[in-house]
Amino acid sequence: MTKVGILVGSLRKESFSKKLSINVASLFPEGYDAEFIEIGNLVIYNQDFDDEHNVPSEYTTFRNNIKGMDAVLFVTPEYNRSVPAVLKNALDVGSRPYGANVWNGKPAAIISQSPGNLSGFGANHHLRQSLVFLNMPILQQPEAYIGGMADLLDENDKIKNDGTVKFLQSFVDAFVDLIEKHQA
Ligand code: FNR
Repeated sequence: MTKVGILVGSLRKESFSKKLSINVASLFPEGYDAEFIEIGNLVIYNQDFDDEHNVPSEYTTFRNNIKGMDAVLFVTPEYNRSVPAVLKNALDVGSRPYGANVWNGKPAAIISQSPGNLSGFGANHHLRQSLVFLNMPILQQPEAYIGGMADLLDENDKIKNDGTVKFLQSFVDAFVDLIEKHQA
């Protein structure tokens, strides 16, 4: 079984990012297990935790969770033209202590969403910048910027627009290809 960890850049109950990611999780083929990874319980990163060997148990659980994944999918809104702090914090927690970066070498893909038109472009690309440094091979094409998110879901939170579902399926298929290239 190939395990894909999904990190969502919003903690709110009715998050569009979460609803979108649930739709995307169902598009992975047989043999893939898409699993949501909790990031809302990670206290803001402080290097003293690692330097003084006083690591919160949530950090250890999170780091081990990521280590156990074959790939990572990020689904995020944009906050003030950048990555929401909760998601950046999760990246930081996983990147340390120095030399023990749990993201290292894991294929990644990014979907940004917004109820507006700009579709989280700024968050998508700021996130990409960090993932390059963390040495994650990132899906290049197709890029996924989902705009007008508030109008895309039906009353059961399913994406109601066939074109968007087809696009997301092509995105997942390309991500699966990337993951399999890295497994070969
Ligand atoms: C936003 N929002 C927002 N939207 C956007 O397209 N570009 C932006 O820069 C911002 N900035 C921003 C900052 C903060 C602090 C908040 C709370 C919101 C609006 C945002 O896209 C909207 O609230 C989404 O619904 C957030 O995603 P979730 O929570 O639905 O997943």
